[in-house]
Amino acid sequence: MNIILLGPPGAGKGTQARRLVEERGMVQLSTGDMLREAKDSGTEMGKRVAEVMARGELVTDEIVIGLIREKLEGENGGGFIFDGFPRTLAQADALGSLLAEEGQTLEAVIEMQVDDAALVSRITARSTCGSCGEVYNDVTKPIPADGKCSNCGGTEFKRRADDNEESLRQRLMEYYKKTSPLIGYYYAKGLLKGVDGLGEIDEVAGQIAAIID
Ligand code: AP5
Ligand code: MG
Repeated sequence: MNIILLGPPGAGKGTQARRLVEERGMVQLSTGDMLREAKDSGTEMGKRVAEVMARGELVTDEIVIGLIREKLEGENGGGFIFDGFPRTLAQADALGSLLAEEGQTLEAVIEMQVDDAALVSRITARSTCGSCGEVYNDVTKPIPADGKCSNCGGTEFKRRADDNEESLRQRLMEYYKKTSPLIGYYYAKGLLKGVDGLGEIDEVAGQIAAIID
């Protein structure tokens, strides 16, 4: 089963995708994570996109479609979770063609609905484990008191370069301008399912599980 997690920055896409990987053996394809890896490993592409990402703007369709194309040829376990992709109508069309080429289909597009005020407080309180990427939040999911990641025991935690109010404002603008048209696009295909992303992490996971099952 292949699904898209669609939602603004801080909606909880990464948090829920990681749970689906653990609980169902699905494969998370986060273009944001792929771009940050490219940046950290110092590739030419990584260097080129770093500033664009820090400003909160979208990277070109060509680059992200290329990243996804490579991954679709690999193993998909219990299905792919597209996290942060597609983000434009051109990317959505490209995903449709790529899946068709692989003989695969898209079963659901899960729109995670969260209001802007919650997004700002979530994003400015976020950190992630430097070793395994487990997502934490100073308020709702603090790093354990012993300073060790609950998933892997790692002790280094990172904050993202684009997790500041100015970049977040730009990311939200990009979302409403370029990504939110996908809600209508997938509604018309009969694939759109909404979940209330404002609930607790477990509650949101329950809503997503109900859709998948
Ligand atoms: P990307 O990495 O995809 O960032 P994003 O879409 O802005 O989303 P985030 O990762 O910030 O939020 P999330 O929804 O994953 O929330 P999370 O689970 O972490 O993209 C970054 C950049 O890369 C883009 O701006 C762009 O430049 C580029 N890019 C990426 N893909 C691209 C594409 N396809 N095309 C073009 N450019 C692209 O949760 C956030 C916080 O909230 C955490 O602290 C978490 O613990 C907490 N939290 C989660 N759920 C809950 C809950 N239910 N209740 C309380 N707290 C919660
Ligand atoms: Mg994310």
